[in-house]
Amino acid sequence: MKRVLVTGGCGFIGANLVRALRAQRPDWRVVNLDKLTYAGNLRSLAGIEEGPRYRFVRGDVSDPELVAALFAEEDFDAVLHLAAESHVDRSILGPRAFVETNVLGTLTLLEAARQAWGEDPAGRRFVHVSTDEVYGSLGPEGRFDERTPYAPRSPYSASKAGADHLARAYAHTYGLPVVVTNCSNNYGPYQFPEKLIPLVINNARRGEELPVYGDGKQVRDWLHVSDHCSALLAALERGRPGATYCIGGGSERENLALVERICELLDERLGPLPSGAPRRSLIRFVRDRPGHDRRYAIDSSLARRELGWEPEVRDLDAGLARTVDWYLANDDWLESVLDGSYADYYQRLYGERGAGRRSAPRA
Ligand code: NAD
Ligand code: DAU
Repeated sequence: MKRVLVTGGCGFIGANLVRALRAQRPDWRVVNLDKLTYAGNLRSLAGIEEGPRYRFVRGDVSDPELVAALFAEEDFDAVLHLAAESHVDRSILGPRAFVETNVLGTLTLLEAARQAWGEDPAGRRFVHVSTDEVYGSLGPEGRFDERTPYAPRSPYSASKAGADHLARAYAHTYGLPVVVTNCSNNYGPYQFPEKLIPLVINNARRGEELPVYGDGKQVRDWLHVSDHCSALLAALERGRPGATYCIGGGSERENLALVERICELLDERLGPLPSGAPRRSLIRFVRDRPGHDRRYAIDSSLARRELGWEPEVRDLDAGLARTVDWYLANDDWLESVLDGSYADYYQRLYGERGAGRRSAPRA
């Protein structure tokens, strides 16, 4: 049995991870610390019962007293640190929360682990969950790996890079058994619809415009969230203290092609729009994201070799079809996260960029 702290367990990846841990390591005790920001949703954990194996704590990872008290109460063997402000566009609208949560929150957790685990942290692990965006932007060739120099270019990626540097410094200076993971774009169930794939599914099913930034030729390397979760579990159980692992699906796709594929999948399932037009006719090219990174791609050979990790969802089109089916079958979850604050955010961002009709919550 292990006692594990998951931070951000009510977010997209966190909820999938808590579910995976309950299913795959049923004897572990999982404590989920989450502030429940707009991105955190208790409905994503429906069916996970509080008890000896699961506890939910609502709180801020940047609160040193709360975090120290949790470490003292629970005597954690491991931390899986996912809590973050995670959306690039929001970081452009307002960077401060990104530094507070991503940098100060990570520092708070690292310090609590150092104090609690003392001089002899043998057998413990602190998995710091980060992103490939810390490496900047690629041209048409090449992939990021663990030796790629840091070159973050948005407030979000700069804050994640700051957090990574602190995590690495705690490993180097204090010998804290930190493992850092840098992962590419995730997709799958329970993703908040501000991110490209659920945003397109949500708008396209309602017949609303589909905003594509710039020329739509930016490339992302997509990984199904279940494969990210299996990599995080492998990093916890088999990761070398002090090591960094790059995690990616090897599934690159241009944004426009991805959006078109989602439209086809929805047309196949729901039929065309009432006008008879296919859903790709909803695509609108809007003003580009400032500083938009052109291409990300990950070489995950080290993780495959050292952690024995392999993604299971290798075919992006099959993973996308599964994802579209999940959102259509979980309409109530999608509706429940689309509150007034999402409508306000949508109007602020996309109104400025020249997108037309917005996705408003249903009354
Ligand atoms: P998300 O935005 O869906 O969820 C973030 C969660 O953190 C939410 O539940 C939120 O309530 C919680 N949170 C935010 N601030 C907090 C605070 N101060 N204290 C406690 N909880 C707080 O994010 P996600 O997409 O699930 O990403 C999780 C982690 O994985 C992040 O660290 C992100 O940088 C990283 N990551 C994400 C992706 C991706 O494609 N989504 C890829 C690579 C890495
Ligand atoms: O690479 C990992 C990162 O992936 C994570 O660290 C981030 O937390 C996660 O949000 C994601 O960042 P991106 O910026 O790549 O994801 P997003 O879904 O916001 O955008 C994906 C691509 O689609 C990007 O090139 C911008 C573009 N886009 C996005 C939106 C929301 C559009 O063209 N239109 C849109 O409306």
